[in-house]
Amino acid sequence: MILDRVKPLDAILATAEKKSLKRTLGWLQLTLLGIGCVIGTGIFVLTAVGAQKAGPGLMVAFAVAGAVCIVAALCYAEIAAMIPVAGSAYTYSYASIGEFFAWTVGWALIMEYAIAASAVSVGWSGYFSGTILNEFLGIHLPTWLSAGPLAFGGVEGGFINLPAAVIALLVTWLLVIGTSESAKVNAILVAIKVTALTAFIALTLTSGDFSADKFNPFLPAGLFGGWGTGVGALGAAATMFFAYVGFDAVSTAAEETKNPQRNVPIGLVASLLFCTVFYILVAAGAIGTLGGQPIMDAMGFPVEAGSPELARQCAMPEHAEALVCSKEALAHVLRVIGFSGIGNMLGIAAFLALPSVILVLIFGQTRIFFVMSRDGLLPEKLSTVHPKYRTPHVVTMMTGAAVALGAAFFPVGQLADISNAGTLYAFLMVAVAVMVLRVKDPNRQRHFKVPGVWIIAPLTIIGCVLLFFNLPSAAMLFLPGWGILGLFVYFLYSRGHSHLGRGIVEVVDDVAGEELQIPIHPPGE
Ligand code: ALA
Repeated sequence: MILDRVKPLDAILATAEKKSLKRTLGWLQLTLLGIGCVIGTGIFVLTAVGAQKAGPGLMVAFAVAGAVCIVAALCYAEIAAMIPVAGSAYTYSYASIGEFFAWTVGWALIMEYAIAASAVSVGWSGYFSGTILNEFLGIHLPTWLSAGPLAFGGVEGGFINLPAAVIALLVTWLLVIGTSESAKVNAILVAIKVTALTAFIALTLTSGDFSADKFNPFLPAGLFGGWGTGVGALGAAATMFFAYVGFDAVSTAAEETKNPQRNVPIGLVASLLFCTVFYILVAAGAIGTLGGQPIMDAMGFPVEAGSPELARQCAMPEHAEALVCSKEALAHVLRVIGFSGIGNMLGIAAFLALPSVILVLIFGQTRIFFVMSRDGLLPEKLSTVHPKYRTPHVVTMMTGAAVALGAAFFPVGQLADISNAGTLYAFLMVAVAVMVLRVKDPNRQRHFKVPGVWIIAPLTIIGCVLLFFNLPSAAMLFLPGWGILGLFVYFLYSRGHSHLGRGIVEVVDDVAGEELQIPIHPPGE
């Protein structure tokens, strides 16, 4: 049987207890942590991509994606407070639905974190080239050095996105030498981001350029733009989902939280609600002032975001100011409506804050790899810890190289869509894991219980499926393609090398931390 290997929950919990981190975090710190990981390229850059897909319907897109994330977050909260160890959805699945599905989740999480890190790097590059190089230093980076060539439809017009690759490598280096973001730095960056977005909202909503006419038509590409097209309000929701990714960081801090029963769900839901409201207001401000109608093709259909055709249209003088053409959407809006100075400050805020999002994402990726490798599902060499820095440097450097390659060659919208496909799968499996554990292990102590789990968890599944099937077909197909590759790796390597399969339960919780080994009888013995 391939579904027979389930990690005993007791072993996992024993490790968590042994580690027993101090419970110091309250709901406010958790909320700040969530906002720190969540606000990034999604709102600062992808707003342009979302508008190209949905026009003013972008506001609906933010609401739908936010709602899916809030129900998913509740499921995360229950399971994270119950299984508070590293590895996130991968570990939860291992303890509930077994090794095979855990492998697929871990494999999908590679799509989430690494590709998301590439997307945020590309987003950062837009602000670096536009604000720092162009506005402040008067240097115009040629397109061949500031955009990747590999849009799904053909050539995007660039050769390599050099700043994006460089920032990914720089962040990787910081992680190799053991940098982690302190709560203080996070709080400062959150303050910078929130101030920038608040200024944006205040200036745009009160601007003389703001007009209700700009919201008409409200849904130029409809609610559902058509199978595999990735357009319409739901298509934009599937992309803008990216703007909420990262909140799982809050759930992983569950064991360091005072009164997790109350504070973890408050932290998760508060940070997501806060972002949802902010995002909708930002979208309203951008569209109400600059207008956000998509550039349509001859058939009256939005031209594909990130495509060569859109790049060609955007080069035309009549689209010079279009929101949908900007690579630094929010700063661009402020500049066009006459607030160049504040637009540049917002650009600096993005320039300063986005690298910390990249750091969190690459960090998350390396820890998933690390835990999978310590479980024997990936080669153990990957989990080698650097003798001086005490970091998993091999896996960090490999991840960083892959992130830099993705960032160098792909456009931001397509990277975000692919990342979303993996994330949606992982969220769906977390919702399944919550229900499975409620049935299999009903009496286990839960520090937080999802209220109405039999409604919330199925709603999470429905929301994830809905968003997944509104992704562009290329991003949708990437998941099964990646999954098939994963199955080959699993059956040719991982299954045979699995420690659990060989009769050892290892629970790894931290790179520097100790691990617990419990010999068990291999399944079938
Ligand atoms: N939510 C994060 C961002 O938008 C990944 O950058």
